[in-house]
Amino acid sequence: MKIALLPGDGIGPEIVAEAVKVLKALALPLEMQEAAVGGAAYAACGHPLPEATLRLAQEADAVLFGAVGDPRYDQLERHLRPEQAILGLRKALGLFANLRPAMCHAPLTHASSLKPELVAGLDILIIRELTGDIYFGQPRGRRSAPDGPFAGSEEAFDTMRYSRPEIERIAHVAFQAAQKRQGRVTSVDKANVLETSQLWRDVVCDVHRQYPGVQLDHMYVDNAAMQLARAPRQFDVIVTGNLFGDILSDEAAMLTGSIGMLPSASLNDKKQGLYEPSHGSAPDIAGQGIANPLATILSAAMMLRFSLNQPEAAARIEAAVQSVLAQGLRTPDIASEGTRKVGTREMGDAVAAALA
Ligand code: IPM
Ligand code: MN
Repeated sequence: MKIALLPGDGIGPEIVAEAVKVLKALALPLEMQEAAVGGAAYAACGHPLPEATLRLAQEADAVLFGAVGDPRYDQLERHLRPEQAILGLRKALGLFANLRPAMCHAPLTHASSLKPELVAGLDILIIRELTGDIYFGQPRGRRSAPDGPFAGSEEAFDTMRYSRPEIERIAHVAFQAAQKRQGRVTSVDKANVLETSQLWRDVVCDVHRQYPGVQLDHMYVDNAAMQLARAPRQFDVIVTGNLFGDILSDEAAMLTGSIGMLPSASLNDKKQGLYEPSHGSAPDIAGQGIANPLATILSAAMMLRFSLNQPEAAARIEAAVQSVLAQGLRTPDIASEGTRKVGTREMGDAVAAALA
């Protein structure tokens, strides 16, 4: 089983190191190889996604990814910015299905910004389409406005696009995930305004006919944002497009107390996957040894389950994380009164020890 390790920028290297520690403690035949990505790769060889890094990722069964993003490189031309590395990997590997669970771990109920009674037991799975939509739609660019009241002035434009097969395949992922959960899918769109959303809704309804056991609802994205903050436990599986999913998954993450707890998986149709924490590179705390490694450790568990066919090992990691939380160990982002503050390494050590 070949794993490509791409630690990236900011806290990326610190948190990936802890996930590697935990993976090694499983004593499975895992072959891990590391490569540079993001700002770190730009600094080393002038490109955020070097050819060799892309090849390593393509040849691996799974990619364990830290984070990319570094304010030092924000002024570069867009194609050289660190974020292009993750967008390029998603596109090149065809990782169209992004699974972002938002779970409220019982010992962390009080870390949420919402009242504990609203989030206790929260367990939502956001399924975000990841290779289409306005993120990748052509044409895009800048020009002089050809018409309208501002004709002749500088304008920029992006294109929101979705095709039927793109929507079909993500809808199948959502319905099949719901079959293994509470059997409910909420499809989120803006069909009252957007043509792409109307197609999205039509196609999701068509695919739904193959899943009579799953309940399907539709929600406009503005209402979904409100419902997530009002009564988040009404949701089981949420399926949505790339841009809406980006926004709603950050909102859902915060309901659970800390984005530092949330893993994610991005899969293609060959079950090859890229696994990364839902949070970013957090340059403000990089190098301080205080970042929460649990989202990355839980991403490694998702990797074992979805790409490496090792469900028992995945469950062992998840149980170990539960046990360190129950012991009261907390990185600063999830610390509260009566718990013991630990750093990144100590948290990784504790999870590895709890595997035994
Ligand atoms: C995410 C991130 C990325 C995205 C950025 C870094 C390009 O916010 O994974 O959610 O917008 O998809
Ligand atoms: Mn995002």
